[in-house]
Amino acid sequence: MNKKLVLEKIKEGSTDVFVFKAKKETKGPGSKEGVPFYNLSMELNRDLSVVFCQWLVDNCKKPPLLLDGLAASGIRGVRFANEIDGDFQVVVNDWGSDCYNLIKKNIIRYKNAEASNSNLNSLLSEKKFDYIDIDPFGSPVYFIDSAIRSIKNNGVIACTATDTATLCGVYPKVCFRRYGAIPFHSVVMKEIGLRILIGFIAKVAGVYDKGINPLISYATNHY
Ligand SMILES: C[S@@+](CC[C@H](N)C(=O)[O-])C[C@H]1O[C@@H](n2cnc3c(N)ncnc32)[C@H](O)[C@@H]1O
Repeated sequence: MNKKLVLEKIKEGSTDVFVFKAKKETKGPGSKEGVPFYNLSMELNRDLSVVFCQWLVDNCKKPPLLLDGLAASGIRGVRFANEIDGDFQVVVNDWGSDCYNLIKKNIIRYKNAEASNSNLNSLLSEKKFDYIDIDPFGSPVYFIDSAIRSIKNNGVIACTATDTATLCGVYPKVCFRRYGAIPFHSVVMKEIGLRILIGFIAKVAGVYDKGINPLISYATNHY
């Protein structure tokens, strides 16, 4: 592991996890330079994933295969492994070597978790999952096509977008190019941004003769 990176142990939910220490306190969408740090402002997002996946595990006929596809420290997948009761497996993936080494350290005591060091699009073309979590820096559009092809019938894709300026109408041309839709910068911009994202996923699903059913959708903080 890169020697300049400093680790700290934090607790989120009921799970202890090692994360990269941030140089300064920030509420933003993580770090684009180098490696991602622990982003406290995404805690609610991860809490909801844990609650939702507990429901999924309780309601799947066979033990489901979950994927934390863009895992960074692996905090979300590690929380699944520790906090969800029942029979399931979770793959915790990141293409960064520092992230992969940290994921291996974080999952070491969980038999139901496996670390992976792949480009998410390659991994999705090789394996099928019951739950795919996509939590990128910025827009998730680059992963939607492969996620739609990889998801099992009645599976769940959990998708976060932090390109809110684009989705909410600050950059309408970028929004049109990226999502094929025109945003509206106004009091309803977050609602419209969310619908643009869901619409994009529905259009990609339609290409493969699949349909989607939005289960939980919300906009908060920077995502
Ligand atoms: C926003 S961070 C993920 C944060 C994490 N989900 C959490 O809750 O703390 C995005 C991560 O995606 C990884 N990444 C970006 N593109 C990728 C790709 N094509 N395949 C695999 N990992 C990728 C980056 O290395 C980074 O760690």
